[in-house]
Amino acid sequence: MEKSFKNGEILRDTDGNVLHAHGGFILREGSVFYWYGENRVENRYVSVYRSGDLLNWEFVRDVLTTESKTSEYRVKTDLRLVNEDGGKINIERPKVIYNKKTKKYVMWMHVENGKDYSEAACGVATSDTPDGEFVYHGCFNPYGFMSRDCTLFVDDDSTAYFISASRNNADLHVYRLTDDYMNVDCLVHRLWQGEYREAPAVVKHNGKYYMFSSYCTGWAPNQCKYAVADSMEGRWSVLTKIGDETTYCTQLAFLLKLQGEKERILYFSDRWNGKDYNDSRYVILPLEFDPAGQPILEYREEFLP
Ligand code: DGJ
Repeated sequence: MEKSFKNGEILRDTDGNVLHAHGGFILREGSVFYWYGENRVENRYVSVYRSGDLLNWEFVRDVLTTESKTSEYRVKTDLRLVNEDGGKINIERPKVIYNKKTKKYVMWMHVENGKDYSEAACGVATSDTPDGEFVYHGCFNPYGFMSRDCTLFVDDDSTAYFISASRNNADLHVYRLTDDYMNVDCLVHRLWQGEYREAPAVVKHNGKYYMFSSYCTGWAPNQCKYAVADSMEGRWSVLTKIGDETTYCTQLAFLLKLQGEKERILYFSDRWNGKDYNDSRYVILPLEFDPAGQPILEYREEFLP
């Protein structure tokens, strides 16, 4: 049993295999954490691991692969899981949320054609269980817009938002989702025009909404910034720097809020290896707040849950 994780070291699952859940997301179901993320090995796109302690991760399944089932859903989408040359497409930053009305686990992700980043599309997949095989419902450009780095956020009233980088990453779009979380319902914001924000993630703390994002420098790390709002659809502040100029050589994947006796927020990030993607590592840090509500991100060698 692992008792801590040394940030930046190879993370292995309980079978001793390298854990591939890059650009991912954690969904909590009772006492079980499900970590979904990119897995580019062989025919895989997205894998899920489960843990009760955020340290010992059991591989559960490849939830999305080149062979996954597809099913058209409402909108006319591109259902291909391989490109016209028979090669893999590219799926990045998968995020999964649960829809209480439909009782479905709904995954949104960034989809490209596997050759370049020109599709700039978002994809949707669903499953009846958190660790089942997801059915792919295809990809599309929301309202015709480009959609690259992305995240999902569910508000207290179950309204969900999909946030993604648009206009060649220059602007960050916030879309309110339909009640079934299967489509965009409304474009509610075009934030920080010309600021080129990527890797977005949202967390609510003390009644305020905090959105963190990176700058756009390929696989190279850069300065994380955050903004604050009183509501998702309200006015967002300007961007403020957090961490150091490379954010400790990381790029944000997602923020995990733990509500025990005391609320804790964890910054889960990728330390990408742009030369050897499969050797990319993880860095997990506590995100803290000062009494004025300013978030603080400091480097720690080890992650102790
Ligand atoms: C940065 C993004 O955040 C990653 O998800 C990935 O798309 C790389 N760029 C590709 O260069």
